[in-house]
Amino acid sequence: MNILIIGSGGREHAFAWKLAQSSKIGNLFVAPGNAGTATIATNLEIDTLNFESIKKVVLQYKINLVLVGPEIPLVAGIHDYFLSDNEIKHVSVIGPQQYAAKLEGSKEFAKEFMYRHQIPTAAYQSFTAETLEDGFNFLETLLPPYVLKADGLAAGKGVVILEDLQEAKDELIAMLKDQKFGDASKKVVVEEFLNGIEMSCFVLTDGKNYITLPNAKDYKRIGESDTGLNTGGMGAVSPVSFADDAFLQKVEERIIKRTIQGLKQDNITFVGFIFFGLINVEGNPFVIEYNVRMGDPETEVVIPRIKSDFLELLIATSQQNLDQYSIEIDNRSVATVMLVSGGYPESYQNGKEIFGLEKVTDSMVFHAGTKIQNEKIVSNGGRVLAVTSYGTDMEEALKISYQNISKIQFEGMYYRTDIGFDLNV
Ligand code: AMP
Ligand code: GLY
Repeated sequence: MNILIIGSGGREHAFAWKLAQSSKIGNLFVAPGNAGTATIATNLEIDTLNFESIKKVVLQYKINLVLVGPEIPLVAGIHDYFLSDNEIKHVSVIGPQQYAAKLEGSKEFAKEFMYRHQIPTAAYQSFTAETLEDGFNFLETLLPPYVLKADGLAAGKGVVILEDLQEAKDELIAMLKDQKFGDASKKVVVEEFLNGIEMSCFVLTDGKNYITLPNAKDYKRIGESDTGLNTGGMGAVSPVSFADDAFLQKVEERIIKRTIQGLKQDNITFVGFIFFGLINVEGNPFVIEYNVRMGDPETEVVIPRIKSDFLELLIATSQQNLDQYSIEIDNRSVATVMLVSGGYPESYQNGKEIFGLEKVTDSMVFHAGTKIQNEKIVSNGGRVLAVTSYGTDMEEALKISYQNISKIQFEGMYYRTDIGFDLNV
């Protein structure tokens, strides 16, 4: 099987790393990929939103299956593009079609879906510029803090949480009237604040059946102890210690099954990964958000815990016979720590040479934002490398990652030293 992975981050490097180990792999391509994927696959310089160019390489390299990493091409309809083209409609695409991708592409769509199918989530209402006054009235019925979410995709920045009612009203004006997040905030979901600890669960579904993947927790804030600006993710661990069998049972019954059943009832075909962003409120799981893809950096800890042949699972997904497969999971813990560019998530510089990668032992370094320039590996993004390790427990996995991080350097390199801090018991 010839495979094309779409994307360029640590998630895609982890996918490539795992697929390269499959007994069924033929040629492996990543578009556009990074310096890490270049060591195990062929990178193709393609804009992931240029579907015509993607079609060209799919035909040229006789690709059998396309695995879509990020949400943007999914929300833009890459899967539908394949289905509507006679020359490539036989190619399997792992990732939902445009309508199903609205579970991530529209917060209002996702909330309506959850309400329709009795999936626990925060109470909410949504507003447009025309209903601004109603928005103020709804805010007045809530207790602080106030949660405002731009309806559309806003590169992970569209959620604003404020303590003060007046500030929340001003923010609603900024989003709706001043289009603070452009078209993404033409509609805003205002919701009740839920107090608890977050984690993520993942399933792979073929539209009929699903398998549950290892769970994970990511650390989104730039600063120690979860302070400062939100990032794409500064590290992750799997499994999550507080997610015991009783909790995971509730997740399965109240959230995963109802979601899969709800998709069927609504006649929404979903082939791909569903990422449940959850919050544990006094032992009960609530959905904070859906994503229609794997998380990053969660993939860098989830994929290493899958022992089964990952390509076999993807093929089964495309053939709708996942029910005939089970997944074998590695019992060890996996942790990843993200090395980022100085200044990230605000402005930062690219092109910094990375030293010491050859000294790393016992960790896997998934490249998140790198490229090869003049035969050197240089930084090429805010998040640069995900240093990932196994351990008998989370502490050991983290210790190995931190030991290896001390061997790696690039100008301005920054990382959090406290990944997993809130899970120590
Ligand atoms: P989202 O983009 O929907 O994942 O939201 C970003 C972050 O905002 C989440 O990871 C949570 O930390 C926080 N958040 C979102 N919705 C809520 C809520 N209803 N209650 C508490 N925190 C929330
Ligand atoms: N780590 C969160 C995400 O991938 O959206």
